[in-house]
Amino acid sequence: MTELELDGLVKRFGDVTAVNGVSLTVDAGSLVALLGPSGCGKTTSLRMIAGLEQPTEGDIRFNGESVLHLAPEKRNIGMVFQRYVLFPHMNVAGNVGFGLRMRGLPKPVIAERVAEVLDIVQLGGFERRFPSQLSGGQQQRVAIARTVITNPRVMLMDEPLSNLDAKLREEMRAFITELQKRLEITTVFVTHDQVEAIELADQVGVMFDGDLVQFGTPEEIFNHPKTPRIADFMGATNLISGTLLEKGSQDCVLESSVRKLRIGHVPEHAVGNSVLATVRPEHIDLSLPSETGDAVENAFKAEVSEAVYFGGTLSYRVRAGDFSLQVKDRSTRHFAEGEEVIVRIDPAHLWVFPEADTELHARA
Ligand SMILES: Nc1ncnc2c1ncn2[C@@H]1O[C@H](COP(=O)(O)OP(=O)(O)OP(=O)(O)O)[C@@H](O)[C@H]1O
Ligand SMILES: [Mg+2]
Repeated sequence: MTELELDGLVKRFGDVTAVNGVSLTVDAGSLVALLGPSGCGKTTSLRMIAGLEQPTEGDIRFNGESVLHLAPEKRNIGMVFQRYVLFPHMNVAGNVGFGLRMRGLPKPVIAERVAEVLDIVQLGGFERRFPSQLSGGQQQRVAIARTVITNPRVMLMDEPLSNLDAKLREEMRAFITELQKRLEITTVFVTHDQVEAIELADQVGVMFDGDLVQFGTPEEIFNHPKTPRIADFMGATNLISGTLLEKGSQDCVLESSVRKLRIGHVPEHAVGNSVLATVRPEHIDLSLPSETGDAVENAFKAEVSEAVYFGGTLSYRVRAGDFSLQVKDRSTRHFAEGEEVIVRIDPAHLWVFPEADTELHARA
């Protein structure tokens, strides 16, 4: 197995800095998702790992050894792209066995390996079909089979599921996770889809404008984003500003314009500092004033300013003072626009950003 290390990777194209000093380690046999909006440098990072671009600065190491001097074909990398360019005139067996034929392996050996790998991608018996006779998902599985058959040290996948419809994408996600765990191929998976990154990856690297802004487990990125911009990108849109009033050993208290809020962790910031906190829309509880008084910890009165039915959940906007919070409620009850409700936020779900970015600070 191969550990992949990116060390201060920079790529400039003239005036454009596509990748701005990215350092991270992909543990041997694990899957890292590079996640970020269009143009943030994901593909350029992959192309440098593959050897298709030379970095302007920095190093790329496989098991501690630099591969910068190696040509792409010497790095033993498998690549899967958004457009699974299969050879249209070759059947499935021909496509999957291509890499081994190039290496001059004997025909019976190739046939055996092809059958083995097709079994792994659940396409046993499809050898004689042509790409035009396969569904999109099946074509993408052939593309993956063609890549894994060469036993690559590192597999690079650039938005491989974005051409598939939503249901197939979910199936393929599960399929890739299972395959990657089984074959233990060190993998970098590029996507701009947060859910995809969270579901697939052992570690997620979030990129904005060429910078790696956070690297951690899906749980860390989802629940403990470093900055408001990362939170926003991960769908945590609620920002609460206030002053840090107290710090305990397990928790802290935020003085906000609406009420004091207890927060279930201890941030680095000093008492007295202005800080920003966030809570995900699905982590806010709503109830009627007749059910819950606002004397309860972290509860306050608010008014429903908007109620929208949204894919199996009800999405609300509630206002209290200068708070305007988005709430996703999965319960069956329905609060009406204009109704008074009690908002309660579990201290465990409130998170104070360790860093602020000025851009969103202004908006909050
Ligand atoms: N060969 C090139 N010459 C000049 N600029 C380039 C070149 N390749 C990429 N760039 C620029 O570098 C930046 C990063 O591009 P990159 O393709 O890595 O983005 P990406 O994160 O893969 O985006 P997407 O999600 O749209 O595929 C962009 O601003 C892009 O225009
Ligand atoms: Mg790209």
